[in-house]
Formats: sequence, structure tokens, C-alpha cells
Amino acid sequence: MASKAQSNTMMVAAFDFGTTYSGYAYSFSHDPNTIQTNQNWYAGGGASRLVSLTPTYVLLNPKERFDKFGFEAEDKYASLAEGGKHHGWRLFWRFKMVLHSTKHLTKDVEVEDFCGKKMKAFPLFVMSIKYLKEHLFAAITRQTTGFEETDILYVLTVPAIWDDNAKCFMREAAVTAGVDPRRLKLALEPECASVQCETLSMAFKGAVTVQGSQFMVVDLGGGTADISVHERKADGTLKEIHISSGGPWGGIFVDENYMKMLNELFGEKAITELRKTEMNDYFDVIREFEHKKRSFDTEKTNQLIVRISASLRDLAEKYSSKSLEERIGTLQIDNVIAKKGKDKLQFDTAIVKAWFERPIDLLMRHLKSILAEPKMRSVHTVILVGGFGESPYVQRRIKSEITGVRLIVPSEAGLTVLKGAVRTTHENPEYTTDPGCELLGTIRLECSKDIPLQHQVLETTFMFGDTELLVKKKNMSTGKVAYMDFECFK
Ligand SMILES: Nc1ncnc2c1ncn2[C@@H]1O[C@H](COP(=O)(O)OP(=O)(O)OP(=O)(O)O)[C@@H](O)[C@H]1O
Ligand SMILES: [Mg+2]
Repeated sequence: MASKAQSNTMMVAAFDFGTTYSGYAYSFSHDPNTIQTNQNWYAGGGASRLVSLTPTYVLLNPKERFDKFGFEAEDKYASLAEGGKHHGWRLFWRFKMVLHSTKHLTKDVEVEDFCGKKMKAFPLFVMSIKYLKEHLFAAITRQTTGFEETDILYVLTVPAIWDDNAKCFMREAAVTAGVDPRRLKLALEPECASVQCETLSMAFKGAVTVQGSQFMVVDLGGGTADISVHERKADGTLKEIHISSGGPWGGIFVDENYMKMLNELFGEKAITELRKTEMNDYFDVIREFEHKKRSFDTEKTNQLIVRISASLRDLAEKYSSKSLEERIGTLQIDNVIAKKGKDKLQFDTAIVKAWFERPIDLLMRHLKSILAEPKMRSVHTVILVGGFGESPYVQRRIKSEITGVRLIVPSEAGLTVLKGAVRTTHENPEYTTDPGCELLGTIRLECSKDIPLQHQVLETTFMFGDTELLVKKKNMSTGKVAYMDFECFK
């Protein structure tokens, strides 16, 4: 049952807080099918293009207070660095992965800033959500008058493969950022994508909307690959037919492999010093690779050429007596990497492919093992979403290696999760495994051994306080009472 707070909803707003990119989307309850995304983030690096997602960067000032988020954070830090004024400022990126990679997660978990200095991650999540929330609210109030924050139902997307601790971490961060817990729902990223797939073009729609159709959704993001498999039920809702699964196989691992290569070529000391002292040139390395990576296709790209800044050449010379050509020779990679002119490096397709292969090999193995299960025999459609899913190389691998299924990549695959999250707030779910349901906690109530179980009546009371939900269960036969334990940080 929807709580009172939710029943007042005039708008559903979803935040997709991604490892690499974040954004929000919303729709008004009088017109739920019109989903609006924020369109006015300027792409960084001086570009005048407007985009719907912004990189998940947080910039703190020297007093460790929030200063900027996204492209603005990246640009400001780079320009501070240009004038040598960035000391004391702290830039954080890719910190969402800490929630997946930490075994015994607590609120004290730490992440490193761009210069390797540690800080607690929790406040960074809070600041990010607060920023998105305020940005959203400003966008709505520009569009509508008389709007109150209490009119909004917030949806926050989380990877399906996260454990309950990680989900709880995210929930607490949102609540600390000022979101009323009664108006907050966590939604699983691949499930949001499944919901959004209802809006696929007519050519593909049947594959996911016809009663009984079964399909797999692969959300391939920056950090993780999240996989879910659903069946369309007669009433139009979705039933999970395979538990959500996945792993750390996102696009950032291609970047990591590239950076490892640069470390080998120029030396770790040179790359570290470049990051600390020539921030702008370091950002250029990242931006240029991001750009080149996006169009990489083994069938069409013969080589990948990148620029080497004068600062990197100088630093490499400072720390090594060998020239770049000699280093390439020593590493025995002169058949795949060559220096072009004074300031360019040319990588052969074979080596670029190897950077993509490691995460994608693991993904392929996982997809094949799921699809080989007997209960998956009616799954003939795979829908690929998420930014990394837009890679021509990735699409080619799936098409050629997973036979007997049709691969669908929706247009704007990177926005599918976000848009689907606005439509994913199912009320009155039938089963706890239905989309939109999440485990918040458990109640342990002792039953009487003397009375048959079917005769023991249990009464459940939900109490909605100011900040948290309280659930009480009473065994009417024994009078025993128990309260719900929230599944936080266990
Ligand atoms: N055309 C493309 N080719 C290759 N990689 C791409 C392409 N477009 C985007 N990417 C990569 O996809 C990733 C971003 O995808 P997305 O925005 O779905 O991730 P995210 O939501 O930030 O991460 P996650 O869902 O894992 O938290 C980045 O690593 C980006 O470099
Ligand atoms: Mg994502």
C-alpha cells in the first residue's frame, strides 16, 4: 500500500547516480508518460554542447565544503590547476564503486581524491544527491509555479548486484541529503531499464510487451554490468525469472587498462607527477581517451592515435634515462605501439582490443552461463543499455557470440535506466520479488509451539514517523510483539 506521503505525489523524479555519469529525470502525475530529462548541462572541456548527464565528479574547497558537481567540478579544478591554485581543493570521481568493492561496508568507508588523499565516502554521496535534488527542484520551479518539495516522490537507482548494505548506504545518504524517507524508493537499475523498454520502437516492442515474452536486460555502465531477466505477465507487469546478477565489468576498466599501459610506457612516477602538477594535461589524457574509446570498433578502426603532451614527455625523461622508443622496445611492444612524429602515439587495434577484452570476456562468460540454464530457453531477446553498451565493439561481441537471441540496443541506451526509473514505482506489488520491491528489514517473532501455526493470527502495524518507518508485528495468540530491524550495515 502506498503511504500517505506517497499518495500526495504530483511528480516522480528519478536520480541515476552512476559511477561515471549522473542525471535525473521526472514526470508529472497528470502526464506520467512524458518523461523529461535535464537537458542543460554543458559538456565540459569548453564544449558548448548540452547533454542530459554530467560526470560524477565532486569538487570540495580547501575547507572541505562542497563547491561544484559534474562538468563544472572538472572544469573548475582544471582551471584552478592551470593557475597553480588547486592546492587544498579536492576532486573526487568514480567513488560509487567503493560500495561494490568493499567487503564489510560501513559508513566509515573511505575513497581517494585525485591526488590520492583519503576521505570518508558517505559525505560525498550526500553532497552529490543534494546537488542533484537542488538542481532538479530549480528546474521544476522554472517550469511550474506553486510546487512544493513534498509533491515529489523520489526514486534513486541502484545496481541490482549491490548487497543490502550498499543499498542501505545509498538510502541513508539520500535521507541525509534531505529526502524524506517516506517519499524515497530505491529502484534496481536493470529493472528500470526493463520498464523503459516498453517504449521501444514498434519494430522491437513486441519482444517485451507481448504476454509471456521473456527478455534479458544487460545494463552495462561505467562501473558494473547488471543483468536481469523478466517475463511479461498477463496484467502487463514484469516477473523476475532470474535473480539479478552481474559484476565489475563496466567501461572504467577499459580506461584502467589504458592507464596501466601509459604507466608502463612513461613510468608510474611521470604519470603520478603529471596528475599532481600538470592537471590540465592529465585531464586531456582522460578526455581524449574517452572520446577515442567511444568510436572504437575492431572492424572499422585500424589504429588509435593519441597526443602526448610536452609535459608528459619532459616528466618521462626526468625519471628515466631511456627514450620513449627505447622503452617501447624494452617492453617488446614495438609491433603494436609506435611513436608518430614528435608528439603522438599510435596503438594498433590488437592492443586496444585487449583493453576492452578483459571486462567483456567476463561479461560474455556470465551471459552465456545464464542463457545456458534450462529455465532460460524461452529467452530470445537481449536488450543492451547503459553507456558502455553503446560501444560498437561490445555490441559486435554479443551479436557474434550469443547466438539464437536478438540483440536490441535502444536509442539513447545510456539514458534508458534513468527514464525507466520514473515509471518504476509500482504500487501494491504482489510478490516481494516484483520490480520496485526492496528488502528494508526483517522481523523475528516467536510463535507458540502449542497452537497450530495456521491458528496464530499476526497483526502488523506500520508507523510513519518523521524520519523513519517503524513496523510492529504482534502475535495475537501469544501477545508477543517484535519490531523490524532495518538491514543496515550488517
Ligand atoms: N560509445 C561508447 N563506447 C564505449 N564506451 C562508452 C560509449 N559510450 C559511453 N561509454 C562508457 O560507458 C560508461 C558510462 O556508462 P553509464 O553512464 O551507463 O555508466 P554509469 O551509470 O555512470 O555507471 P554504473 O551504472 O556502473 O554506476 C563510461 O565508462 C563511458 O566511457
Ligand atoms: Mg548506470
